[in-house]
Amino acid sequence: MTPTLIQAGTAAAARVDQTFLLIFGVSAAILVFITLLMVWFVFRYHHARHPQAADIRGNVWAEVAWTVIPTVLVMGMFWSGWTSFKALRSAPADAMRVKVTARMWSWVFEYENGRRASTLYVPVDRPVRLDMTSADVLHSFFVPAFRIKMDTVPGMETYAWFQAEREGSYDILCAEYCGLQHANMLSTVEVVSAEEFKRWSESGAGGDEEAVGLLESYGCMGCHSLDGSEEAGPTLMGIYGKERPIVVDGGGTRTVVADEQYLRRAILEPDAELVAGYEGMPSYKEEMPAEDLEKIIRFLTGGAARDLDRGRSLMEAEGCLSCHSTDGSEIAGPTFKGIYGHKVVLEDGTEVVADEAYLAEAIRDPEKTMVKGYEPIMPQYSHLSDEDVKAMIDSMRSLSGGHD
Ligand code: CUA
Repeated sequence: MTPTLIQAGTAAAARVDQTFLLIFGVSAAILVFITLLMVWFVFRYHHARHPQAADIRGNVWAEVAWTVIPTVLVMGMFWSGWTSFKALRSAPADAMRVKVTARMWSWVFEYENGRRASTLYVPVDRPVRLDMTSADVLHSFFVPAFRIKMDTVPGMETYAWFQAEREGSYDILCAEYCGLQHANMLSTVEVVSAEEFKRWSESGAGGDEEAVGLLESYGCMGCHSLDGSEEAGPTLMGIYGKERPIVVDGGGTRTVVADEQYLRRAILEPDAELVAGYEGMPSYKEEMPAEDLEKIIRFLTGGAARDLDRGRSLMEAEGCLSCHSTDGSEIAGPTFKGIYGHKVVLEDGTEVVADEAYLAEAIRDPEKTMVKGYEPIMPQYSHLSDEDVKAMIDSMRSLSGGHD
């Protein structure tokens, strides 16, 4: 593997690179100069050519040179380092602010509108200030492409800022050894256009609640759940992008992908493309103004399809999924797949069924409900509301086969 220099993603990062280049250049020049000088001395003052050593005392010009030249070089390097350090530390006052909470072993980003995410979405060309803290031990927030690395400290606030120049995805790493899964404490900065950021930002927080309100007011929720359970109609959880079997005239089915166009058609003319196994649905063509339709479509398609499942988004945002898989694989904690309704053996050997009450306690106060064979490293999530805990448990239930 050849090491590659990650291209600087911000102007401040470019200055940091310049400083490193300057220091490297000065060091390399001094190395070459001293090496050549040494070789020349060895040759010039070899005893065959220079049998009699001279005793030289005092040389004003040599003294001035070896005082002034290194001083200028050191001051130059210091100046370059100081100004680029200042650029990294001086967050503009109008910067967008994001709260960063590190915990074993995930990052949570909280926006001014209350939206939380485990990926740092930011608009391009806009300064972003990160106010950081840690919920447990020391971590360090590191974005190599932006040349920023800042410790997060429990009980203390630190900050960093950046202004991304190009859209794209940039790695976030934890740069402070913080326990077993330190190496997996990863995320990304997703730098997107201003419009896309706005859409993403609104699809969470207030946007979601409004859309759910609309779904309720149009009676959609009477037949379609948001948590994966089956009612008279298919669940809306994760519907975006799913393949749907559509009944065709004369029997049989064809497959349609539930993209944005399909979802729009399914609301306006549901009977034209009926999903196999379900009764018809009334058309909302007359009833639903375009504005409401767009809000619902935006919610269904989300910034990402997973936003539909609030419990899952929460589990991601809270960092649960860094230790608990949803596909049956083992990370640091038990997998969520199939846990709901199944027996678990606790530390003291007792067997309990992982029902709603058990799972709620396991989230809030994990120490008392530790499953045998796992390290007692899970933090308490006592800050979650009952509603959030329930959404998470619903999501776990949907991973255990849906109905109960
Ligand atoms: Cu967090 Cu290493």
